[in-house]
Amino acid sequence: MTRSLSAPSFLRRGLVAIGAALALAPAAFAQAPIVIKFSHVVANDTPKGKAADFFAKRAAELTKGRVKVEVYPNSQLYKDKEEMEALQLGSVQMLAPSLSKFAPLGVKEFEVFDLPFIFDDYNDLHKVTAGPVGAKLLKKLESRGITGLAYWDNGFKVMSANKPLKNVEDYKGLKMRIQSSKVLDAQMRALGALPQVLAFSETYQALQTGVVDGTENPPSNLYTQKMHEVQKYVSVTNHGYLGYAVVVNKKFWDGLPADIRAALTKAMAESTKVANDTAFNDNQDALAKVKASGKTTVYAPTIGERFLLKKALVPVHKQLASRVGDETIQDIYKATGFDPAKL
Ligand code: LMR
Repeated sequence: MTRSLSAPSFLRRGLVAIGAALALAPAAFAQAPIVIKFSHVVANDTPKGKAADFFAKRAAELTKGRVKVEVYPNSQLYKDKEEMEALQLGSVQMLAPSLSKFAPLGVKEFEVFDLPFIFDDYNDLHKVTAGPVGAKLLKKLESRGITGLAYWDNGFKVMSANKPLKNVEDYKGLKMRIQSSKVLDAQMRALGALPQVLAFSETYQALQTGVVDGTENPPSNLYTQKMHEVQKYVSVTNHGYLGYAVVVNKKFWDGLPADIRAALTKAMAESTKVANDTAFNDNQDALAKVKASGKTTVYAPTIGERFLLKKALVPVHKQLASRVGDETIQDIYKATGFDPAKL
């Protein structure tokens, strides 16, 4: 025989159920993670791709699941130009654009990193990115609603085309894809080439269809985008550096609870180490794979050929000093010991 509920016991049960639901509600809210959309344009298997994935993992671990970083690689979400706009609008929270891509935001000084032959190696570079010059540059982003968190390495660039690139004259008349940097524009013009700005995601097709003749990038980007399959010659010029600034939407960052921000800062420091520790090897491996593919001829310029390339390109420093800031250039020379007069 079923016993009908007496009014008081019915009420009691109802109240218990409501109480339980209310007790659970704050916990349920607390568990909804803060989502960070991290958009980038390269493949997962690159220094930036690996560091971004590592950051996502560590951010989840260090915040005990309170933060979920969603990484969107390969221009899946946005291309170069759009991703900067999306960050400012808050449609994504985090990016790691190459240092060459900050001038359209009005921070032209970042193009200093594009100056050809300004860094001899990663050692020189780190004197800048890990020192006061690097910090000062990141600070300049604040007025654009962006907070700079770190510099991540990629590497030194090679040149590619469908003809051998040994001497300065070999570049004459070639249409070369560049990133949106006036320094890179001047660099290509100094070689007699015709620079053409294209989004990274459009570069492979432009090379394949002959819209452009050649390009420059570190081997890790060349290989993972298969650009070597549509370029007959690669010249290991190491004439310039390509790396990244990891940036967040300032309003979003400042609005995070302090403990979350601290955990993310720690995750970022660890990720920076991952990027910088793997960049050199990743680029060496990629170059070896490009060679092994047999799809392109890889040429290492002689010391003499590289010296002539350097002599042709270093004047770009002076030429672009008023754009990127002579003071910043001099600060870098001081940090690295580079002296253009000694060429
Ligand atoms: C490029 O556009 O060539 C690079 O900036 C891509 C990247 O992010 O490494």
